[in-house]
Amino acid sequence: MNQIKKMLAVPAAVFALWALSATAATNDELAKRLEPVGQVCVQGQECKGMEVAAAASGGGGAKTPDDVIAKHCNACHGTGLLGAPKIGDTAAWKERADHQGGLDGILAKAITGINAMPPKGTCADCSDDDLKGAIKKMSGL
Ligand code: HEC
Repeated sequence: MNQIKKMLAVPAAVFALWALSATAATNDELAKRLEPVGQVCVQGQECKGMEVAAAASGGGGAKTPDDVIAKHCNACHGTGLLGAPKIGDTAAWKERADHQGGLDGILAKAITGINAMPPKGTCADCSDDDLKGAIKKMSGL
């Protein structure tokens, strides 16, 4: 009997972990989308997103494609999470661009979001040019 319980417990634990991390990712996305952060943080409560968001919009000025990618796009496009085209996989990006009318076409989808791709790839304060630079760099197009 104990043996059976153990056998059941292991996959259950793995599943629970998986579910937990999936939820965490979603909450994180949501938190980012709920910017501006100033309105999300309530006095007296811990406000973890704050430093991250402050760092992300860091110091004003133009964002480099590398910054945008590292802070926002890499989370999914680095590994191909959720079916995202991978950084450096030019063929995958080109196929998308060919179907969407070129770089500007996929840029438009990146701005509005498409399926699991969040609007602006979570970079709420990115300009179109910031996003375009990141897309160019990731795709090699
Ligand atoms: C939460 C995960 C996630 C993040 C973060 C993310 N992407 Fe994506 N992205 C995706 C997924 C998934 C797809 C594929 C969507 C589909 O076609 O179903 C995608 C597709 C795209 C596409 C192709 C759109 C098309 O028309 O086929 C572009 C361009 C893109 N992302 C740009 C970006 C940029 C730029 C960033 C960072 C600023 C970013 N993404 C951040 C998940 C993400």
